[in-house]
Order: sequence, then C-alpha cells, then structure tokens
Amino acid sequence: MRKPFINKPFEEYILRGKNIIVGICGGIAAYKTPHLVRLLKKSGANVKVALTDAGARFVSELSLATVSQEQVYRSMFPPTDKAGMDFTRHISLGEWADALVIAPATANTLAKLASGLCDDMLTACFITLRPGKPVLIFPAMDGQMYLSPSVRRNIRTLAAQGAIIVNPESGDLASGQCGTGRMPEPESIVRDIEQAMLSSIERSMLHGKTIVVTAGPTREKIDDVRFISNYSSGKMGFAIARAAALRKAKVTLITGPVHLETPPGVERIDIESAIEMHAAAVNFFSSCDIFIGAAAVADYRPSVYYGGKMKKESGELQCTLVKNPDILADFGSRKTGSQLAIGFALEQENGLENAGKKLESKNLDLIALNFFDRKTSGFEVDTNILTLINREGEITELPQLNKDEAARKLLDMIEAIYRKTSIDT
Ligand SMILES: Cc1cc2nc3c(=O)[nH]c(=O)nc-3n(C[C@H](O)[C@H](O)[C@H](O)COP(=O)(O)O)c2cc1C
Repeated sequence: MRKPFINKPFEEYILRGKNIIVGICGGIAAYKTPHLVRLLKKSGANVKVALTDAGARFVSELSLATVSQEQVYRSMFPPTDKAGMDFTRHISLGEWADALVIAPATANTLAKLASGLCDDMLTACFITLRPGKPVLIFPAMDGQMYLSPSVRRNIRTLAAQGAIIVNPESGDLASGQCGTGRMPEPESIVRDIEQAMLSSIERSMLHGKTIVVTAGPTREKIDDVRFISNYSSGKMGFAIARAAALRKAKVTLITGPVHLETPPGVERIDIESAIEMHAAAVNFFSSCDIFIGAAAVADYRPSVYYGGKMKKESGELQCTLVKNPDILADFGSRKTGSQLAIGFALEQENGLENAGKKLESKNLDLIALNFFDRKTSGFEVDTNILTLINREGEITELPQLNKDEAARKLLDMIEAIYRKTSIDT
C-alpha cells in the first residue's frame, strides 16, 4: 500500500481567538445551547451570549454565563444605577464579533431580523455586525411553522442579505410530531461555524469555483407506473453540495428523486432517469471547474418502455436491459486543463482494486470508495466511511463520519489537489 495522504488540520485552529456571539431565541432547542457554548470555548473562541427574553424561559442565564465565563446580554439598556456599565453595548457587542450565530432562531426573531427590527441585544448585534463577518442562522421550530409562507419569505430575505441559513434537520419534534424543524446538534453547528470562518478568513480554494454535483438514484421506467431504481437517498451528494456552497462555490446539484431539501445557495435540477441526468450534466461539461458524481446512476434501463400501464399476463415477463450512458466517464474523457473529475465507488469486495481501476478507466482525479451495510455507510444512512484515492495512488482512510463531515473531508482533499496543482505548475 502506498503512503497515506495527510490532511492539513486547518479546521482545528480556525476558531482560536475568534470572537463569537451566540444568539439564543425562545425555542425548545435552546436547551442544547450551553453545550454549544462549551464546544466553542473548547475550540479556543471567545463567546458572548445574546439571549432573548423568551430564550431565558427555555435555558438558564446562569448556565450560559458559567459556560461562557461572561455576563449574558439580554437588554440593550444597562441598569443606570451601576457604575462602569457599558452604555453603548447595543453597538459595541456587534462591533466586537467575528461571527454571529443564532441558534435556535425562532420564527419571531427571523421576522424581526428580516424586517430590520432592533429591540433587544440579539437583534442589535445583527444590525451592528461589521460587513463581511459571517452570520449563521439555525431556524428551529415546529414543522408547520417552518413551512409557513412568512417564515419561508423571511428566510429568503435573510439569505439574500448574505446570512448563512442552515436548514433544520428532520426527525422527532417537541410537538410530538415528526418533521423538519429540529436544530442540528451543537457539534454540527460548530463545524458549520468553522466552515463559515474559513470562507471569510482564509479564502477557500473552492471560492467562486463552479461545481456540479450529481446525487440520488435514477429511475428507469418500465412503464408509466413501474421503474427500476436503487436505495440511494441522495444524502451524500446533498451534503457535498451544501459543504461546497458554504465554501462559496457556485454549486449546481443535479438530482434524482429524493426527499431532501435543497441546501441554501445551491441551484437544483431535478431529473428522473440516467438519460435525463446525462443530458442535464452535459450542459456543464465545458464550463464547470469540478464535476462530482455522487449519484447512484442506474447502469441499465429497460430496452423497451411501455406507455401507460402494462397489463399483467400469465407466465414470465421478459425484460431486456440496455446500458445507460456513464456520465462521469463521459466527463472524464472530455475534461480539459484544470477541470477535476471526482467519483464514488460503491463496492462489495476488492474495493481498493476496483476503485483504482475505476479511477483510471474514467480518468478521474479522485475517487471515494465506500461500502454498503445500510448501518454505517453507503445508501440511506446518515454516516459514511470513505476511502479517498487520488491519481498518484495515495490513499486516505477516513473513519465513520456523518455525511456532512465526510463531505467536508472530501472537499478538503479536492482543495489539496488544487494546492498541489498550483505548486506544481
Ligand atoms: C413551549 C414553547 C415552545 C416554543 N418553541 C418554539 C420553537 O421551537 N421555535 C419557534 O420559532 N418558536 C417557538 N415558540 C414560540 C416563541 O417562544 C415565541 O414566538 C417567542 O415570542 C419568541 O421570542 P424570541 O424570538 O424573542 O426568542 C415556543 C413557545 C412555547 C410556549
């Protein structure tokens, strides 16, 4: 085995010495915020908390003050009977910050931020933050609230102003229902902050790059009600698109049928079959900087497609399958100059050997080998175990990571390829 490629641990230090305001609103998810503050402090950040009055009903000011080792900011108006008070804190806190993180962000505060209201420390921080400093907003609420037109509109307004909106996750909600609206776990929030800081401080190599990501399964129609497909959920491709957008790349996501929300800042093209995915992808072949094939494109499709619904006949049904276009191989054969082709290999056995062959035959720059057990890696699950192999045959084995984190590691590796290319040329 050749020597492993060592990742630069730049993420580990990115928050050290940075001033971060954590804005906490009145939602159930506020109970997670003392842990968030602790993690940020552990990363070496200076943290000050801006807590809304409603927020203080869900999480204790004392806990937040203890973990942040700072007073907790609520009102803009300091008590005038105390000497040495910071009378301009409605401005100075926002000026102090390198980043503002609002988690959880309630529907109420989203509306206030979108319309420019400024009636507590949190909203004042938002308005007084210095230009270019990242604002990360983590909406968290009941699923119906999240889908309401006014919440959608306010989120769009804030995103258009440059705020990074991180979609809530799906799962069990405090209402007892299941749906989208759950705040991500603090560990994941910290990673998003790191990414945002990285994009704003040390410009990512992917900043401004045009990246096309394919995701999800394809459906190969037998007739109008039946198809051949696979178990791909699209989670890996969506995580890559999201991570690339956070690094300020221009991302187009071409996806088969999945139940996932489009990551903010990503242009999405929905397709159904491999032929449609190929047709959509070809439009970007000459213009994109990086093509990442994370879709589970069906290798074959039925040779004949019956319009309408095929009647059940007695006896066997013969169905001949013909080969679909290999989208990634097509891009690999046409790419020029510094264009990069990145692929995935889902293998059962002889993974390294098969992935290596795929890398060469498709003229890829990097391939991510993964296996499928439907528990820790591969289709449907939230985690993946990737082994990255580059053109030089260097191998990086990643541990089991959630797909967001695996996506970030993959992008780190792509950045490393860019860095190497710019040193070599
Ligand atoms: C038990 C309870 C839970 C709540 N959870 C949420 C929530 O998760 N998200 C949300 O947007 N609002 C939630 N609300 C409503 C907010 O607390 C309310 O809109 C409040 O005015 C928000 O104020 P703030 O934005 O200043 O923090 C909840 C209210 C109650 C009583």
